[in-house]
Amino acid sequence: MRLLLHVPKAPDEWRDAFVRALPGTEVRAWAPGPAWQADYAAFWHPPRELLDGQARLKAAFNLAAGVDATLRSLALPPGVPLVRLEDAGMGKQMEEYVAWAVLRYFRRLDDYARQQARAEWRVHRPPRHDEFPTGVMGLGVLGLRLAAMLRALGFPVLGWSASRKVLDGVRTFAGAGELDAFLRATRALVCMLPLTPDTAGLLNRATLGRLPPGAYVINVARGGIVVDDDLLALLDSGHLAGATLDAFHAEPLPAAHRFWSHPKVFLTPHCSALTLVEDSVAQVAGKIRAFERGEAVTGVVDRARGY
Ligand code: GLV
Repeated sequence: MRLLLHVPKAPDEWRDAFVRALPGTEVRAWAPGPAWQADYAAFWHPPRELLDGQARLKAAFNLAAGVDATLRSLALPPGVPLVRLEDAGMGKQMEEYVAWAVLRYFRRLDDYARQQARAEWRVHRPPRHDEFPTGVMGLGVLGLRLAAMLRALGFPVLGWSASRKVLDGVRTFAGAGELDAFLRATRALVCMLPLTPDTAGLLNRATLGRLPPGAYVINVARGGIVVDDDLLALLDSGHLAGATLDAFHAEPLPAAHRFWSHPKVFLTPHCSALTLVEDSVAQVAGKIRAFERGEAVTGVVDRARGY
């Protein structure tokens, strides 16, 4: 069996992990030129021509949860399933990051940090969970974990997704028609949506303006879902109290971008959930074995839907 590999970072680590996980498989890094005919391909940030000339490819594995960049850039042979990572060690990291971000706002640690800068000793009244409904947008593998984690922390949890989901203990909303009701009832918005033509720019002045005054935005998905100037305007007007951002339109975030220095923005360099080599390779190898047995796998991307 042959596996074509293309990863911009740590290629040797990925190759060695695949060789260990799939004994007997020839793993080769992609190079421009005539196609080395492979059975499977695994990649991140693929060049457009990565799969050109591949005649017998059985499946292509996106070594990330989000497939927006791949769908934008890669010429995918028709009929070849594209499979994305499902959790693969990212869920736990996402839970930690979002728990921290929500609790930081809930416990007003951002305010206390500002007070410290002024040497101001002042205690705010105890926060109440029922006054702090959290809303998760995107109820896929990771979004579901976040909803469960927020529930376990004691917050009322709302969930919004493109198609209807019924979840224990979570008030769910579906589709464009129920977005306003979801936003109006959400105090801390957690964006875990895939970036698709439907979600690009979905968090804009109109939608974010429907969050109640003093609401918070936490974006751990993709920068393209947010209209940056609209978010900044709502932070500046005081309608929004803070934003925690881990994903941006352009990455690295350009040094001149206002997010860097905005007092109500806390940002991180797309690290809320890092891809873990061992976990990812174990998952992909398991799915390759399933394909070889003729079994169906989960995580196959619906190209028309975009995720
Ligand atoms: C990271 O952003 C991913 O899509 O896995």
